[in-house]
Amino acid sequence: MAGQIPQRFIDDLLARVDVVEVVGERVQLKKAGRNHSGLCPFHQEKTPSFTVSADKQFYHCFGCGAHGNALRFLMEYDKLRFPEAVEQLASRLGMEVPREGADDPRAQARERKRKEGVNLLELSAAFFRERLKMPEAGAAREYLARRGLSPEVQQAFGIGYAPDGWEALKRHLDERGIPGAVQVEYGLLVHREESGRTYDRFRDRVMFPIRDLKGRTIAFGGRVLGDAKPKYLNSPETPVFHKGRELYGLFEARQAESRLERLVIVEGYMDVVALAQFGIRNAVATLGTSTSEEHLSRLFRLVGEVVFCFDGDRAGRQAAARALETVLPLMIDGRQARFLFLPEGEDPDTLVRREGPEAFQDRITCASPLSEFLFDQAAAGRDLARMEDRERYASQVLAALGRLPEGVLKSLMLSELSRRTGVDQSSFESLLARSAPGSASAPAEASGGGDEPDVPENAVSPPGGGGRRGAGSGSLSLVARMLQLLVHEPSLIERVPEGDDWCPADDSDGVLCREVIRLLRAGRYRSAQVLLAHFHGSHEGERLAALAGRELLIPRSARGAELDGLIEHFRRHQRRRSPREEIDALLAREKAGERLSREERQRLMALLTELHG
Ligand code: GTP
Ligand code: MN
Repeated sequence: MAGQIPQRFIDDLLARVDVVEVVGERVQLKKAGRNHSGLCPFHQEKTPSFTVSADKQFYHCFGCGAHGNALRFLMEYDKLRFPEAVEQLASRLGMEVPREGADDPRAQARERKRKEGVNLLELSAAFFRERLKMPEAGAAREYLARRGLSPEVQQAFGIGYAPDGWEALKRHLDERGIPGAVQVEYGLLVHREESGRTYDRFRDRVMFPIRDLKGRTIAFGGRVLGDAKPKYLNSPETPVFHKGRELYGLFEARQAESRLERLVIVEGYMDVVALAQFGIRNAVATLGTSTSEEHLSRLFRLVGEVVFCFDGDRAGRQAAARALETVLPLMIDGRQARFLFLPEGEDPDTLVRREGPEAFQDRITCASPLSEFLFDQAAAGRDLARMEDRERYASQVLAALGRLPEGVLKSLMLSELSRRTGVDQSSFESLLARSAPGSASAPAEASGGGDEPDVPENAVSPPGGGGRRGAGSGSLSLVARMLQLLVHEPSLIERVPEGDDWCPADDSDGVLCREVIRLLRAGRYRSAQVLLAHFHGSHEGERLAALAGRELLIPRSARGAELDGLIEHFRRHQRRRSPREEIDALLAREKAGERLSREERQRLMALLTELHG
């Protein structure tokens, strides 16, 4: 029997989780002053009246009055019961949910242990800071001074020193009654299997605490004072630390500037700290990994603009190509990404010290926008006066555009591509549409095997491969995917906008999709079974049953957004279709013996009149 979840656990959970993040994963939010806003997920609206406050850790809709904290949001949005919502929040923080019950010593032990983990990291951070002041840390202080770190910036980043010894921290924590196993679990001690011995992981290193968004220490990075290897040592993965998702300096950046608009991603701890010392307080670094989509979506929830900063060498160019590929799918309108290349042999730390902060700030301000970098990268090593090179150039740009979300940026880039290559924009559009992810006829559009030296040809993967979106629905057309979503989750009909002329009906799936939408709207068919029963025994019934039998791999919480995306795509596509094409499609269906609906016949008449005056 699971007991009650202790209130103090819930309080702690809510204090550690960020409601902006939780909501932002499900609703598209934009920063608006101190708050974030977006379209309310709990009622239909066209202008945003839904706000989320990071300060208050609360969401509120001025339209429908929905409000609450992160837990309430999960319960309402993901339709979870309270304990399930708690479980979900806890698991994303790597916490185990304790259960109360005086008669359950195991639960009490768990709760005690969790608290120890949280305290332990703060205790250790304080220990390292204290040690930096002691005589034994003379060499460390000298090292920091030589690297030019001011006492103020050392304090702001909580920099400390791990003494040279096997058991300095271990003894300190033992004295405070923290079990050795917990010290090992949180990465502070190393456990040797063979000898059964444990000892301090960090010895004779300058210590950089890694903090979460709320400023709690969750891990450490430690640098040697000299040239020994490894230069940097990081905490291992622990219940509270997941390397691929954290960013060094994010807490400090938010502390320095409550209304951040731009974040600069650099490579190293020292770069973040040095820039901060010179007044550039919006730099963050990954923990020695390349920038992941998760990193970027976290950053874009906080700011509208991200600047990637790379070394000017070959490795830097390759890292930039990877970053470009990662950031493309996240570039919805309103977001900006830019690329900054430093002179060879410099990193932000050395450069800001050499040229001063104004010059460095100018470099940031002048960094290439994503569009420019993308075109430049595709042009590198090619002679655009040659037709074959122009073709490869266009294919590479087009492949990248296939990964961009629909929007103004994409349209602008398409017309720019057309300008640069002299190819009609509509040709590119139809190429793109044909290779759209999930479309039935997606050709494997190779981007050509050029001889371009710096950036690997496949740096930007071609469209069509896009396993990311419709995993498991590989060969379904877009309209079939919409049908599949509706069959699996008929309640999604509430998100479907009025009318149905946006829904392409030039094949049987499209026609069926319109029919399903009509039925669901009428309100009598609210489960897949009833819907299938309605069509039972017909071709349509078989088709729907097949779609219903196909596993839908999109997580429940993402289905609404998936549907919105599809509809948005259809609408744009519809707008692009010329009257001539629409007429042809309608006539073709009529010829094939299909009966057009009344609306469709009227539409056809209107189109014909329009065309022939
Ligand atoms: P300094 O040499 O102190 O200026 O550091 P840096 O930040 O300039 O280091 P570098 O550019 O060599 O490395 C960038 C980042 O990669 C570091 O901040 C670390 O996160 C990571 N890194 C570098 N060396 C190591 C290493 O030996 N081990 C691990 N785990 N990470 C490293
Ligand atoms: Mn450096």
